[in-house]
Amino acid sequence: MRGQDPAGLRVTAMRTLFALGLAGWLALIFGIASAQQADPVRIVPRLTGTAPPMASEHIPPLGRPIVDDVRRMRNYPEQPPVIPHSIDGYQLTLNANRCMDCHRREFTEGSGAPMISVTHFQDRDGQVLSDVTPRRYFCTACHVQQTDVAPLVPNTFQDAHDVGRKP
Ligand code: HEC
Ligand code: HEC
Repeated sequence: MRGQDPAGLRVTAMRTLFALGLAGWLALIFGIASAQQADPVRIVPRLTGTAPPMASEHIPPLGRPIVDDVRRMRNYPEQPPVIPHSIDGYQLTLNANRCMDCHRREFTEGSGAPMISVTHFQDRDGQVLSDVTPRRYFCTACHVQQTDVAPLVPNTFQDAHDVGRKP
């Protein structure tokens, strides 16, 4: 058998080593290329402006949140709705979730708050739980307050209703 022949074995070993070396070089080259592409400063405009990272700059006050209790239209069906009420001082920690004091299914009748939707009960495997799933526990990772300020960056968003073929 060829596998037992020492010369054949040596050739196979050398080929394997060569392939490994080539893979290493390719990984290095592509690694450098993608690291350059993913440079966050180039993709996202810096919110800090041109200030050097370690300087202590004057920070403008936060925008005034809109707290009129009017539920805002969503710009597309999957948008996490913006929060139309104040969330000042609401604790959202490992042990306390103030949001769920009103938005949990069991409390909605008393609070008048809309229940978290069914997607908030599904874990990452699609299993439906009886309470909010861990991946939806930190509400403010997705839901933000609507703030009364001009957009930070230009925006050319078009409603899905206004694009595409008209009937
Ligand atoms: C005291 C009760 C209460 C608490 C606490 C509360 N909410 Fe609400 N939430 C409401 C009510 C009531 C509404 C319906 C609109 C209104 O009256 O402001 C609402 C509306 C919302 C909406 C808009 C839903 C839609 O369909 O437009 C979101 C999003 C929301 N809340 C998220 C949160 C988050 C996140 C927290 C925690 C940081 C929170 N809420 C804490 C009572 C509460
Ligand atoms: C991973 C992102 C994410 C997190 C975390 C999250 N939500 Fe949502 N939420 C959404 C999206 C997306 C929608 C709209 C689509 C849907 O209903 O799933 C939504 C919808 C809602 C609605 C409107 C429901 C309706 O039927 O109109 C409420 C209220 C709400 N979320 C409250 C909460 C609260 C309270 C928490 C924290 C316990 C929370 N969400 C955490 C993404 C999130």
